[in-house]
Amino acid sequence: MSDGTPPEPQPPRPTSASTEAKTVLQLLKMTTELFTRHRVEAPRLEAELLLAHVLGCERIQLYVRFDQPLGDAEVAAFRELVKRRGRHEPVQYILGRREFWSLDLAVREGVLIPRPETECLVEEALAHLRAHPDARRVGDVGTGSGAIAIALAKEVPAIEVWAGDIAEVPLAVAAENVVRHGLAERVHVVAADLLAGLAHAAGGPFAVVVSNPPYIADAAYATLEPHVKREPELALRGGADGLDLVRRLASELAQGLAEGGALFVEIDADQGERAIALMAPRFAEVRVRKDYAGRDRVLVATGFRG
Ligand SMILES: C[S@@+](CC[C@H](N)C(=O)[O-])C[C@H]1O[C@@H](n2cnc3c(N)ncnc32)[C@H](O)[C@@H]1O
Repeated sequence: MSDGTPPEPQPPRPTSASTEAKTVLQLLKMTTELFTRHRVEAPRLEAELLLAHVLGCERIQLYVRFDQPLGDAEVAAFRELVKRRGRHEPVQYILGRREFWSLDLAVREGVLIPRPETECLVEEALAHLRAHPDARRVGDVGTGSGAIAIALAKEVPAIEVWAGDIAEVPLAVAAENVVRHGLAERVHVVAADLLAGLAHAAGGPFAVVVSNPPYIADAAYATLEPHVKREPELALRGGADGLDLVRRLASELAQGLAEGGALFVEIDADQGERAIALMAPRFAEVRVRKDYAGRDRVLVATGFRG
């Protein structure tokens, strides 16, 4: 009897001598159909990303190579990647990279894959940093791959960023990404527990604190797609209502944020009001920025009262 789990995917096979070699376009079509059956979110796009990876070219270049036949070794390598995706491994882990803020970042199992909506937090923090040239010390709490810290440091050459995490893989990946983007002198990756730990490691409080903490509530976590659950629980789960880490951030503000400072925290779509209630008594101004899908996404708090 079926347990409801789709059968192991059977990706394209290498051609035998008697059959015609498969072309780029044929492989893309076959794989798109397979991924569609396995409910992969963006079947054609992911098929293209994997095939481009195998052929060592950009995805866009596949379009001028549609009729190119592939050798058996290439088909076999592609088949392996398709199998991994079929077993719910996120495509970004398979490729080992993810684009964020137009920056190429290394990612691998054990680190959160940066999401496009986090760019809204970068936009808000950037606007603040540009409007406040005296705000130069920035703390990124739960840096993961280093995405936010690196984007901000690239955009504002005058800032110094301390990027903290408590998990081993994110710390290693963030350090790798910082070096890859030539920012080792201004972005310091440090092992630190939340905000108080990060400020202690940095030798004092920050003018700006940014954070995309784990914020998924327990009930919502249970419903996540299997490929999302391949990412670390520590990066996703925020307790019963998702706000455990945001509450801890609020309780550590006195140690981590300088008077007059600003805080930018990514939140889940239904957490806006509660996040505002948590932070409002401590700041001159508190608001929520929506993402491009119109959902509450970033808590923006300025004028820390100390
Ligand atoms: C949602 S991920 C964000 C990663 C990255 N900032 C981004 O936006 O892509 C949350 C990160 O917080 C880290 N984390 C969880 N608890 C932490 C704690 N107590 N102190 C520091 N980092 C923590 C996790 O290891 C994970 O890397």
